[in-house]
Amino acid sequence: MDALRISCILFALFVISLSGSGGTTAATDEERKVYIVYLGALPEGDYSPSARHLSMLQEVVDSSYTGKSLIRSYNRSFNGFAANLTNQEREKLAGRDAVALIFPSKTLQLQTTASWDFLRFPRNVGRNLDIESDIIIGVIDSGIWPESKSFSDHGFGPIPKKWKGVCKGGKNFTCNNKIVGARYYVRGDDSARDLDGHGSHTASTAAGNEVENASFYGIAQGIARGGVPSARISAYKVCSDTGCTDEDILAGFDDAIADGVDIITVSLGLQSPVGLQYDSIAIGSFHGIGKGVLTVQSAGNDGSLTGRVVSTAPWLFTVAASTTNRKLVSKIALGNGAEIFGNAINSFKLNSTKNYPLVYGKDASIQCGEAEAKRCYGGCLDRRLVEGKIVLCDDTFSSSNLAEVKRAGSVGSIFRSGEIYDVSFVFPSAASTLSPQQFDLVESYINSTKVPQAYIYPSENITDSSAPVVASFSSRGPNTIFPDILKPDISAPGVDILAAYSPAASPSEISHQDARSVEYNILSGTSMACPHVAGAAAYVKSLNPHWSPSAIKSALMTTAWQLNATNASHGDAEFSYGAGHLDPVKAADPGLVYEILRSDYIKLLCGLKLDPKALAQIFADNTSCTNVVPTQPKDLNYPTITAKVENGERFTATFSRTVTNVGLPNSTYRATITTRPSQVNISVEPNILSFTTVNEKRSFVVTVTGGRATPPVISASLVWFDGLHSVRSPIIIYT
Ligand SMILES: *[C@@H]1O[C@H](CO)[C@@H](O)[C@H](O)[C@H]1NC(C)=O
Ligand SMILES: *[C@@H]1O[C@H](CO)[C@@H](O)[C@H](O)[C@H]1NC(C)=O
Ligand SMILES: *[C@@H]1O[C@H](CO)[C@@H](O)[C@H](O)[C@H]1NC(C)=O
Ligand SMILES: *[C@@H]1O[C@H](CO)[C@@H](O)[C@H](O)[C@H]1NC(C)=O
Ligand SMILES: *[C@@H]1O[C@H](CO)[C@@H](O)[C@H](O)[C@H]1NC(C)=O
Ligand SMILES: *[C@@H]1O[C@H](CO)[C@@H](O)[C@H](O)[C@H]1NC(C)=O
Ligand SMILES: *[C@@H]1O[C@H](CO)[C@@H](O)[C@H](O)[C@H]1NC(C)=O
Ligand SMILES: *[C@@H]1O[C@H](CO)[C@@H](O)[C@H](O)[C@H]1NC(C)=O
Ligand SMILES: *[C@@H]1O[C@H](CO)[C@@H](O)[C@H](O)[C@H]1NC(C)=O
Ligand SMILES: *[C@@H]1O[C@H](CO)[C@@H](O)[C@H](O)[C@H]1NC(C)=O
Ligand SMILES: *[C@@H]1O[C@H](CO)[C@@H](O)[C@H](O)[C@H]1NC(C)=O
Ligand SMILES: *[C@@H]1O[C@H](CO)[C@@H](O)[C@H](O)[C@H]1NC(C)=O
Repeated sequence: MDALRISCILFALFVISLSGSGGTTAATDEERKVYIVYLGALPEGDYSPSARHLSMLQEVVDSSYTGKSLIRSYNRSFNGFAANLTNQEREKLAGRDAVALIFPSKTLQLQTTASWDFLRFPRNVGRNLDIESDIIIGVIDSGIWPESKSFSDHGFGPIPKKWKGVCKGGKNFTCNNKIVGARYYVRGDDSARDLDGHGSHTASTAAGNEVENASFYGIAQGIARGGVPSARISAYKVCSDTGCTDEDILAGFDDAIADGVDIITVSLGLQSPVGLQYDSIAIGSFHGIGKGVLTVQSAGNDGSLTGRVVSTAPWLFTVAASTTNRKLVSKIALGNGAEIFGNAINSFKLNSTKNYPLVYGKDASIQCGEAEAKRCYGGCLDRRLVEGKIVLCDDTFSSSNLAEVKRAGSVGSIFRSGEIYDVSFVFPSAASTLSPQQFDLVESYINSTKVPQAYIYPSENITDSSAPVVASFSSRGPNTIFPDILKPDISAPGVDILAAYSPAASPSEISHQDARSVEYNILSGTSMACPHVAGAAAYVKSLNPHWSPSAIKSALMTTAWQLNATNASHGDAEFSYGAGHLDPVKAADPGLVYEILRSDYIKLLCGLKLDPKALAQIFADNTSCTNVVPTQPKDLNYPTITAKVENGERFTATFSRTVTNVGLPNSTYRATITTRPSQVNISVEPNILSFTTVNEKRSFVVTVTGGRATPPVISASLVWFDGLHSVRSPIIIYT
């Protein structure tokens, strides 16, 4: 899951933690662990996958254990199984011709009212409701809370005829005409009910109903709504509080594609990128391409380093998280009249309307040294010096210092914001967090007076005119698996997002200190950005029902708001936001699209230096690469243009592209290169494209030449313009 959670363990500020590595881990011969045994596409004709899986296992696993060993059979959208194997059994299976891949199962992690308005996507936007209500979004996540107002089927017609799924939500779980399908896979679980909150949050952001007066205790109050409120949802629960396993994620894809969903949203991932042959989301989603299913995935929540974007495959639509103009702050007033806007979701109203005494942790301890006391370490604070006061702690908040200030009887607490300084986290008590500059202000105020006083206000919304800015935590490129494919693809709101939640889950990260139950909660993470793009993709599809996944993705990318380095918290421009910021309304009429067929991806994969047997079996439906002319990644018909070149060398990079006219039949587009840096020459040949019919295709070549003194990153834009549509692709050359 990708919601941002403080502990940096989860993908809602949580990305993914890799338990068990992508490679081979030595296991003793007796010890078993779960492996994914992947066989590729489903063969045509008479073939019983599950019988075949069992017989393959029987050949290598002791007969008494075969039934227990088989954990999952994938037999609807692709072919394979998950099994509990010893190292020896794994080796035997790996030798079989039929086995394309075998890898240990990893555990992945999960990573508002106003966000759609910020996207200039108002409630009354033009819609085709007949088609929208036939669209089904598959949400692969932590389940769903079926009783939420966001998922009520009031006013919904019958389930779309094309639906092939079922409601297998388990114990005490009823679907309706809004939640048309539900399945759960987590071992030991008895239903698809969301006990975490993440799955309900993402599902309602993509396709939740319009719900009036939604808020978190009055904070961020307004109409909560998804991108396509009339669309349907099918929930695939693959995550529990310990994460989401590869075997369950693959089962979710196997079913979602066969059930007939239109779009899959998957806000989860690993902590660092892995090769395609270990990437269950890349493998599962690939099988949707030929069936018209677009998969949208969060980029990850590890923005601290470059090259950490975990969604790397070119058929995935990879989403970064950015801010909106609505910022939630918890204001602190000091005794001298100064007001400081700290970051926190704090719903607690202090009893007194007057200021409280303010005490610094280091001045409130008898038993600890200054270094520990000022951080409010466990056991340091002296109750007599803290009770009834607001306490300042020189540390980021944690479960332990929050427990300590509570134990000592404080009425509120003030912390430093950490590495993730642009997010407001939900607090279990009155609190706020401050930037280093703000913190110094409070400290010098304490220094300046004998009777420091302060007041902490419940959170309020203020306008942030700098938005959108890509969040500090949002994972950055470059793409370490496909260096010539720019990732992430796009940015969307992912900071302080209000959406439906699970009343069974604690609203805050410090869950054991917060027993409150809420229907709506405020979360941050690339997890929250991902379903905005899934909802927008569904909207584009509802107006253009026959478009392929790549056409929908291209439309959203080439019409995105142009951003620049000032719009990225670490200044890393396109490596943080890709093509730019989501603009759903513009994407419905993009003029031209860059289409990529399944066969184009296969040509790309054939050019990779992976094991050719595995490649053919993984992705190519048994078509071998022998008769295929491979495509270089830079020449894949991607809506962005990227190449990695040698540092300090002259270079000439050419890129072949083909656009399809989806605008006016008779139209002429002219190419312009904008924001062209002086150190390179960029040409487009031809630079005029004329169309006389819709769906007509025209090809062109972009050539970029640079000298030895080329800077590490060159950023420009190619824009095709017909007087009406502006079709923009960033050009990124980096060393
Ligand atoms: C796999 O086998 C091990 C014993 O080697 C056992 O502890 C574990 O629970 C099994 N896992 C599953 C998913 O059955
Ligand atoms: C692959 O092709 C061979 C020979 O054409 C055929 O026997 C086999 O069933 C095919 N397998 C799949 C998965 O389609
Ligand atoms: C598919 O697998 C399921 C178990 O996961 C099994 O019940 C079903 O019979 C299998 N179907 C086929 C056609 O093998
Ligand atoms: C079903 O779940 C809902 C929500 O948790 C709960 O209110 C209800 O009592 C449950 N019903 C049964 C029969 O367990
Ligand atoms: C809106 O929600 C708030 C907070 O939950 C509540 O106090 C208020 O009464 C609600 N207003 C309406 C009109 O329902
Ligand atoms: C505020 O008042 C309530 C009710 O009198 C009490 O339970 C609570 O502890 C008080 N909170 C603070 C921070 O003083
Ligand atoms: C406050 O006073 C302490 C002790 O004199 C000093 O170390 C600290 O730098 C001062 N803080 C600020 C922000 O002026
Ligand atoms: C805060 O939110 C309310 C309700 O959405 C809105 O009316 C108000 O203008 C917002 N205030 C600011 C400063 O953005
Ligand atoms: C970010 O981009 C938007 C839209 O392109 C722009 O209006 C805004 O001023 C930018 N913010 C900064 C800090 O540059
Ligand atoms: C970035 O965008 C902002 C607002 O759109 C603009 O003011 C600024 O000049 C731009 N910066 C660069 C380096 O292009
Ligand atoms: C497009 O232009 C051609 C010639 O310029 C003309 O014959 C044709 O009717 C036009 N088509 C449309 C749909 O306007
Ligand atoms: C760009 O083109 C100009 C004119 O043809 C040429 O003089 C210059 O060397 C070229 N620069 C690079 C970096 O290739």
